[in-house]
Amino acid sequence: MSNNLLLTLAVIGGTGAEGSGLAMRWVRSGYRVVIGSRSAQKAAERCAELNQQMGEPGLISGAENSAAAKSADLIVLAVPYGAQKDILESIRPELNGKILINVGAWINPERPATVELPPGLSSSLEAQEQLGADVRVVAAFQNVSAEYLSDPEREIDCDVLVCGDDAEAKVSAMRMVEAAGMTAYDAGPLKNSIVVEGFTSILVGINKRYHARLAGIRITGVSL
Ligand SMILES: NC(=O)c1ccc[n+]([C@@H]2O[C@H](COP(=O)([O-])OP(=O)(O)OC[C@H]3O[C@@H](n4cnc5c(N)ncnc54)[C@H](OP(=O)(O)O)[C@@H]3O)[C@@H](O)[C@H]2O)c1
Repeated sequence: MSNNLLLTLAVIGGTGAEGSGLAMRWVRSGYRVVIGSRSAQKAAERCAELNQQMGEPGLISGAENSAAAKSADLIVLAVPYGAQKDILESIRPELNGKILINVGAWINPERPATVELPPGLSSSLEAQEQLGADVRVVAAFQNVSAEYLSDPEREIDCDVLVCGDDAEAKVSAMRMVEAAGMTAYDAGPLKNSIVVEGFTSILVGINKRYHARLAGIRITGVSL
């Protein structure tokens, strides 16, 4: 996977806030992007809106989740935690040998600003356990507000921690972070997604306490 620009990306749940924003940034960087939805019609409608925002028809395409995953080399999962297991099961036949970048984080809707762990310790670890070793799961973007992503021209004032157990998959995911306009840091094995996903709840709390919407993280003291 030496030239990511030849890749087609499927953003599963790409009709939503986080996935739509990433999709716009990746097409702007020259990638082919298909947004997936449980409904092909909803995907088509959301595509039309995003392409209008981007000022060019046909830039992003849309499909039902399985068809989107089938058409893609690299899969991005951007769905709420509660939907993750069923969605992954529905697209599993299309994931053989592929990389899956999980954007999702477990957040308890009743206490979103308190770090709580799901049964498998992180949504990314649960995805890896469910999919098996044939699918290489990488965690990224958990700490990036969808509001930043909603305007593809906007400069994003935060960094992205990337966790994964497969070195090649992690490099591919880090390239996708850079293509979306952010700096990626290798944050170690997929197990470290426990902390990265948990940090999302801390950012939710900081946003709330400081009446902000764009709290994020920056790594300092490192020369890249
Ligand atoms: N929003 C943020 O600022 C942010 C920041 C960092 C990380 N994240 C993580 O990114 C993931 C996606 O966040 P988001 O804000 O983009 O979510 P969202 O807009 O609520 O949902 C994303 C998409 O997931 C699909 N979906 C599938 N099953 C669903 C269900 N049972 N209920 C609701 N939607 C379902 C929907 O697409 P279809 O209806 O088209 O299938 C929906 O458009 C989450 O895990 C979140 O924790 C979000």
